Amino acid sequence: MNKMNKMKFLFYVFVSAILCFSQNIIAKGSSEINIIPLPEKCKINSGSFVFNEKTKIVLDVKNEDLIHAASILNELFSSAAGFTIPVIEQASGSGLIVCKLNPSLTNDELYKLSIKKNKIQIEAKKPQGIFYAMQSIRQLLPPQIESNQKIQNIKWEVPCVEIEDSPRYIYRGLMLDCSRHFFTKGEVKQYIDLMAFHKMNTFHWHLTDDQGWRIEIKKYPKLTTVGGYRNRTLEGAYVSPSKRKWDNTVYGGFYTQEDVKEIIAYAKKRFVTVIPEIELPGHAIAALAAYPQYSCSGGPFEVEGLWGVHNDIFCSREETFEFLEGILGEVSELFPSQYIHIGGDEAPKLRWKRCYSCQERIKKEGLKDEHELQSYFVTRISKFLASKGKRIIGWDEILEGGLAPDATVMSWQGMKGGIEAAKQNHDVIMAPNSYVYLDYYQANPKTEPHAIGGYLPIWKVYSCNPTPKELTPDEAKHIIGFQGNLWTEYIKTFSHALYMAYPRAAAVAEVGWTADSQKNYDKFQNRLMVIMKHYDMMGINYNKTFLTEERKEENK
Ligand code: ACM
Ligand code: ZN
Repeated sequence: MNKMNKMKFLFYVFVSAILCFSQNIIAKGSSEINIIPLPEKCKINSGSFVFNEKTKIVLDVKNEDLIHAASILNELFSSAAGFTIPVIEQASGSGLIVCKLNPSLTNDELYKLSIKKNKIQIEAKKPQGIFYAMQSIRQLLPPQIESNQKIQNIKWEVPCVEIEDSPRYIYRGLMLDCSRHFFTKGEVKQYIDLMAFHKMNTFHWHLTDDQGWRIEIKKYPKLTTVGGYRNRTLEGAYVSPSKRKWDNTVYGGFYTQEDVKEIIAYAKKRFVTVIPEIELPGHAIAALAAYPQYSCSGGPFEVEGLWGVHNDIFCSREETFEFLEGILGEVSELFPSQYIHIGGDEAPKLRWKRCYSCQERIKKEGLKDEHELQSYFVTRISKFLASKGKRIIGWDEILEGGLAPDATVMSWQGMKGGIEAAKQNHDVIMAPNSYVYLDYYQANPKTEPHAIGGYLPIWKVYSCNPTPKELTPDEAKHIIGFQGNLWTEYIKTFSHALYMAYPRAAAVAEVGWTADSQKNYDKFQNRLMVIMKHYDMMGINYNKTFLTEERKEENK
C-alpha cells in the first residue's frame, strides 16, 4: 500500500469506527453532504431533525404514485426502527414531513428538500421528485435504517439542510444480462431497489441472447421450453477449442408474463422504467434452437453454451418478420415503456451472404449489401413497433447501412457511435465499454474473480463525461442518458453480480445525475465511505479494492 492509499484506508477505518459509536456525525462539520449522486445545490445548517414514533408524512393530494413515493421511508422505519411513519392527508404541528406537488416547477424529476429541526418540507413537480427527496433523506439517516431487523438505541436523525436538486440526464440506466446467467425475480427486484437508492430511473433488462431466451411468449412457447435451457456451459476462461472445459449440467430458467408484470409493477413503485431487450437479428441462437425455420440454414441448433459472437442469425425471409412481430406484439403489450431495445449488435453477415432468400431480399428492396439489409431489418422492426406506439433503442451497430428513423442509439463501442448518431439528430444513450462495462475487471486481475477482461476501476467510471466536447449545443441535446452494463458470462451468482456492479454503479449514477463541473472524485470517495455503510447494512456484496489499490493508469 502506498502512502496515499494507506491514508485512505485509515480514513475508512476511522469513519467506520465513528459510525459504530455515534450515529450523529453524518455530514456534520462537512462542507459536502453525504449523498450519492451529489445534489445540485445544497446548504448544510446546524442542528438536526429527529424521527420518532410521532413523526408523520403529510401529503397535500391523494395520489397513488405519491403514496408509493412517501411509503418507502415508512417501510424502512417499520423494519429498522420498529415504528411506522404513517402517511396522512392533513396535520399541523411539529415533527411532520410535508410533501407538496408544485406543477409550476420546471423539471419532472426536480425536488426541493428543506430539513429543519422541527419540520421537513419537500416540494416537487411530480411524485418521482418526492421519491428522490425520500432517497436523499434515507442516505442522510444512520446506515442502520437499511436493517431488516429492529435496531435499538439509535437516534434516527438527519442534519438540517436545504437542497434543490435535479438530474443532468433524463435517462439514467443500468443493464442486467439475465440470458448468460439467470437471476431470480427476487434478485432482479433487489437490483432495481439499489438503482432507486442511487436515483437511477431505467432498468435495461437483457432477456434474450444465444445462451438463453428468458421471457415467456404465449404465441411461441418453445422459446422458453426449448430456448430457455442449455445443455452445457463453458467452464472457466474462453480458450482455444481443444482446451475448453464444459459444465455439462442443464442450465436455464425464464420469467413468465406474470413474473414480468410483477417486476414492472415493483419497479414502477420505485420510479424505475423497465426496458426489455429482445435481440435481433444476431444473438438469436436460443430462439433458433426452438424455431430453426427462421434461420438462413434451417438448423438444427442448440442453445449455446459458448460465449461470443455466433454466425447464425435471423433470416430476412418474410416468415421471420411475422415471427418477430408475434413476439414483439406480446412484448409491447407487457411493457409500458416507451422504448423497446432491439439489440442490433454483433450480427455477422456470413449467413446472409450465402442465403438465397436474403440475397433475393437485397435485390427486391434495392439494397447495396448486407449492411443495408441490417438497416432494412431494423427499420422494418422499428416501423412495426411504431405501430404499437413504441420507439426502438439499438446498440451502435444499427448505424450500419443507415439508421432507422427515430431510432435511439446506445453507444457501447466507445463514444464514437453516439457522436455520429447525435450528429445525425438521433437521440443517444452513452454506455461506452471504455467506461461502463461493469463486467470488466475493477482491480488487479491477479486477485479478482475471473472476468471477461478489460480494466475499469471506479475512478475511470467516474471520470466519464457522456456529452463529448466536440458536439455542438444542438447536437449535445441528443445525449439523453448514461448507462452501466452488466454482462454475466462469467457471473454465475447474484452476489457476484452485485460485487461487480457496486460500488461502480454508484459512480455511474453520479455521472448520470451530477453536472460534470461539480464532480470531484476525492470527495465522491469520501461520500462513498458513508454510502458503503448502507450497503453493509443491506447485506450486499460489493468491491472495496478502490480503497487500497493504486491508481496506476490515472496519469497516463
Ligand atoms: C455489446 O456489448 N455487444 C452490446
Ligand atoms: Zn437468410
